[in-house]
Amino acid sequence: MADPAVPGGTRRVLVIDDEPGHRMMLRVVLEDGGWRVDEAGGGREGLTRLAETRPDAVLLDMRMPDMEGSAVLAEILAARPGLPVIMLTAYGSVGAAVEAMKHGAYDYLTKPADNDELLAVLDKAFDYARLLRENAALKAGLARGPELVGQSPAMERLRQTVAQVGPSEATVLILGESGTGKELVAEMLHAASHRATGPLVKVNCAALPGDLLESELFGYVKGAFTGAVTNKPGRFQLAGGGTLFLDEVGELPLALQAKLLRALQERVVEPLGGVKPEPVDVRILAATNRDLKAEAAAGRFREDLYYRLAVLELTIPPLRERPGDVPLLAAHLLRRLGEKNRKQVRDPSPAFLDALLAWNWPGNVRELENVLERALILARADTLTPDLLPPQVLRAWGGGTSGSAPGAAEGSGPVPSAPSAPAASLDDAEREAIARALEVHGGHREKTAEALGVSRRTLQYKLRKYGLARR
Ligand SMILES: Nc1ncnc2c1ncn2[C@@H]1O[C@H](COP(=O)(O)OP(=O)(O)OP(=O)(O)O)[C@@H](O)[C@H]1O
Ligand SMILES: [Mg+2]
Repeated sequence: MADPAVPGGTRRVLVIDDEPGHRMMLRVVLEDGGWRVDEAGGGREGLTRLAETRPDAVLLDMRMPDMEGSAVLAEILAARPGLPVIMLTAYGSVGAAVEAMKHGAYDYLTKPADNDELLAVLDKAFDYARLLRENAALKAGLARGPELVGQSPAMERLRQTVAQVGPSEATVLILGESGTGKELVAEMLHAASHRATGPLVKVNCAALPGDLLESELFGYVKGAFTGAVTNKPGRFQLAGGGTLFLDEVGELPLALQAKLLRALQERVVEPLGGVKPEPVDVRILAATNRDLKAEAAAGRFREDLYYRLAVLELTIPPLRERPGDVPLLAAHLLRRLGEKNRKQVRDPSPAFLDALLAWNWPGNVRELENVLERALILARADTLTPDLLPPQVLRAWGGGTSGSAPGAAEGSGPVPSAPSAPAASLDDAEREAIARALEVHGGHREKTAEALGVSRRTLQYKLRKYGLARR
């Protein structure tokens, strides 16, 4: 009757049924069959438990006092598309069950269900859901799997380390200057892990003030504060079975550092207003552009938490320390940007690459990406030429300033005010670049800021400074 122990971890089923006796009966049969069972006594509770427990399948009663089964079904499928939901119908009212299947239910059983049939349907549902997940993972991988580009020894080592530590459950602290690819490395680690088909949940610790961040991370229970009308799972719970990426972890307030430490040590979290800790099954990855060890030494970051997070430390070197990666990265990013903007892929000219190599990239790969996007937008010919580069890059190169510069020779087509003649001053060059970008984007501030690789606020300030604000 019962399945042998399930290979590859527990299978989890959520039973939503208002009759305690029936739930109890199902629990016995299902646990015998190797399932871990969670219960809910109504539709609303079922939806909350769904987020908390992340089941592999749901058994759902058609008739409950608080909510119609069909309405619960719709919400379940909205939250977890593809999750197999098996309807339980007490009255042999097969019509309604068939209707539910049209709306996405996986199958139905009449109550009381035959034990063997129940387990057989659930097994089939589990296999089906796994197939869907694998397909999705496969497709995502084929479409545009994250890729760490670079042939420098440092990047080779990094790729190797990612492949090695990805599959472990170890907490990893990813260090590197802004724009070096920390988030990308986190995605790669998750993709290389056994949790790859589970969720990757990201939290930016700098984005929210402390109290909001706390409920965002750990969730809250109904009634925890005014306005908490239902239980809300935190990112920890949402990442169940997957990976939680704590970005900019160096910005975490001290009070929350203590709670995070507890979550890491004991694998439990306490939702706001909760009475008991809840177990969580997540792997933690964290990133920061700060020197966390120094922060710890200075008392701004808990030392014990630092050591917990830095079980493994990965440091991504800045782009200026691996200039050999620039051409490869440029080719990769140009392809990606071309796809993203649905623009024709353009190749960089030798002089363009030469100029890229002369710059020291304080904003690292992200800055390179922005510079390339800007060039793509400005480009009118098939080949990208140096005149499409921002003034500071051109100046560092110096190629554009002499009459016989390769950039000037290659310049194809009339480019308005191409900076091949040296701008009178740094300010002139900047003003010119901003004016051109504005023109290209039809005065659209956000797009202009993005193309120039500056924040909107910075752009606003510069527009005022150069008298370009009124348009
Ligand atoms: N080695 C690489 N190969 C391919 N793409 C990369 C590489 N490194 C970075 N990128 C790309 O550069 C951009 C910036 O990377 P990412 O967001 O991961 O950096 P970050 O270190 O998290 O930056 P920040 O500190 O600003 O948050 C992304 O579009 C990313 O895909
Ligand atoms: Mg980042």
